[in-house]
Amino acid sequence: MSAEDFWGLLPTLSETAVPPELAQPLAQSWGEAALAEHASIASFGRFSLQLLAVGAPPALLVDTHRAALDEVEHARMCFAIAGIFAGEPLGPGPLAVEPHALGSLELPAVAAATAVEGCLGETLGVHEAEEAARLSESPAIRAALTTIARDESRHAELAWRFLGWAIATGGSATRAAVREAVAAALAQGEQGGPNARAIDEQLVPYGRLSAARRRRLRREVLERVIGPAFDELWAEG
Ligand SMILES: [Fe+2]
Ligand SMILES: [Fe+2]
Repeated sequence: MSAEDFWGLLPTLSETAVPPELAQPLAQSWGEAALAEHASIASFGRFSLQLLAVGAPPALLVDTHRAALDEVEHARMCFAIAGIFAGEPLGPGPLAVEPHALGSLELPAVAAATAVEGCLGETLGVHEAEEAARLSESPAIRAALTTIARDESRHAELAWRFLGWAIATGGSATRAAVREAVAAALAQGEQGGPNARAIDEQLVPYGRLSAARRRRLRREVLERVIGPAFDELWAEG
């Protein structure tokens, strides 16, 4: 097998001495991040089919396929980091792809899902990765998180571009579906989000945000960035 056959191989993080009691929690936490990145590859695969089904313009398709490749790289970087803490190479195994994963292919439903997963989720992802990079004491981890933040910001921008096109194309039914989905997601966000897990403050120097930091950041980004961006969208028509 060549290095290309592995999900994640990094030689070592020599600059970061890891207290032995943190190795397992770090392997687990980075492993979960890696699995989320791995699932994002499928999300963009699904999005490319949705775009085709709603007749989206080619520039959006190009950027969607590029984004899927970014996610392959993110998964590989995160598995590599998790593998260092685990002391062995790690990978995802088969992804549990639901036969009905494609969901509705009507424009309002596709736009609503993109508003939540892309405009909201990816924008939060950018800020989380930036904050985790800023607090990381390992240059290799910081570099990986900086790459992830840069790519996720392109993905968020792609979602906003699609949403603009979808609302211009789909009119009031699409706008209403997006508005409803965003309101529901924001209400859920105020409870800390479905993925708020307890990540210990001790993992912060190794690029993992604690649950408390994540909640604070989430509230701030929703209020300062995402809320105003949607307000602007509603004001446009
Ligand atoms: Fe990613
Ligand atoms: Fe992404």
